[in-house]
Amino acid sequence: MPKPSALVCVRCGSRYPVERFADDCPACREKDAPANLTVAYDSIPGAGRAKDQPIRPLDSMWRWDSFLPAASGAAVTMGEGNTPLISAPTLGLGDVWIKDESRNPTWSFKDRLASGAITMARQFGAKVVASSSSGNAGASAAAYAAKAGLPCIIFTFAGASAALVAQMRAYGAMVITVEDKADRWRLQSAGVREFGWYPTSPFFGPVVGSNPYGMEGYKTIAYEIAEAFDWNPPEWFVLPVCYGDALYGAWKGFEELKALGWIDRVPRLVAAEVSGSIAAAMQSGEAMPPEIPRNAPSIATSIGASQGTVQAVEALRRSGGTAVTVTDDELSRWVVTLGAREGMWPEPSSAAPFAAIQRLRASGTIAANDRVVALVTAAGLKDASVIDSALPPSPVVRGGLTEVIKALHEVYGFAHG
Ligand SMILES: Cc1ncc(COP(=O)(O)O)c(C=O)c1O
Ligand SMILES: [Zn+2]
Repeated sequence: MPKPSALVCVRCGSRYPVERFADDCPACREKDAPANLTVAYDSIPGAGRAKDQPIRPLDSMWRWDSFLPAASGAAVTMGEGNTPLISAPTLGLGDVWIKDESRNPTWSFKDRLASGAITMARQFGAKVVASSSSGNAGASAAAYAAKAGLPCIIFTFAGASAALVAQMRAYGAMVITVEDKADRWRLQSAGVREFGWYPTSPFFGPVVGSNPYGMEGYKTIAYEIAEAFDWNPPEWFVLPVCYGDALYGAWKGFEELKALGWIDRVPRLVAAEVSGSIAAAMQSGEAMPPEIPRNAPSIATSIGASQGTVQAVEALRRSGGTAVTVTDDELSRWVVTLGAREGMWPEPSSAAPFAAIQRLRASGTIAANDRVVALVTAAGLKDASVIDSALPPSPVVRGGLTEVIKALHEVYGFAHG
């Protein structure tokens, strides 16, 4: 197992001592580009293991523990990871594969983050887990804290998705609702400093990203994809992005495999976003993405923040990737298309990669023969509202089969026989 030896700035490479969790890089904050820290190790992650040596068939992402900050035996795990990679030939997007993270224990990719962060919370002797999240990160933190036997406090705000708040409560978390969204960080931050609550989510602004140990969990997405492609990774990997935790984590994972010589190329990464903040930084060359407020909230609430992060921009630049801003109309269309054609129901945010791929194929940025993986980050049941707004109401039929056939035709355009 490699041991964490430092926390390193994702932008300027400054090294800081290992801590239970991270603030941002003081050097970059001074330059108005606050940046997250990432875990560095005392030995090369994965070293000593040959690529063709079978990775132990443990039923979770911890089978990659030679790349992670804790041993599988010490992990707080519920079988996260090892999600399927499914070919999606019906979408008209060429050679596209779906990495389906909705199969995780709480039905989102955040379980990799929560498993990584809460494993380390336990190792550091934390007594309480705290998260500011109205969504999947909170649901995951709640579940993994329960599994670890730690109390969990989640700050959310009035108007958060009812399904997700119910999920947090079902896992026994103590949910606190604040009226002003900004209060969540103020309160969590105070709890972290005064009481030693262990933060798994961002807890101050401008956001730099999440807990670095949690982000290590996202590296396993890259290992699984590379392994599934027999160590000849796809040309492109497209993710729905908000703060870029998964984007940066996956990039780091691919880089580690390249350093070991297991793969000879890192896929080009694409951030599918709704604010346009990361795209603006990619264009301007600035380190810090600008805030781009919207007139109305996006239907993709999970990725609805108005400002991206330095770590997202770093991962895109270093992988030769790009950012694509997608619209609500595209998201809604792709939610319906994925369900009807591939039998896959994504959360609205998880439809973003498909809209991005469509645009990049059309512009020729993604070449006709390039293989592409899209990350479906969470399940549609988390936010079912799009289905009601995008599809006609199902008809109420009185009478017999004649009326059924009529309704099938009128509402669904179905021609019988
Ligand atoms: C379903 C879903 N997709 C994507 C994201 C974006 O994640 P990240 O912050 O890693 O970019 C989130 C969370 O914030 C999410 O809940
Ligand atoms: Zn820095």
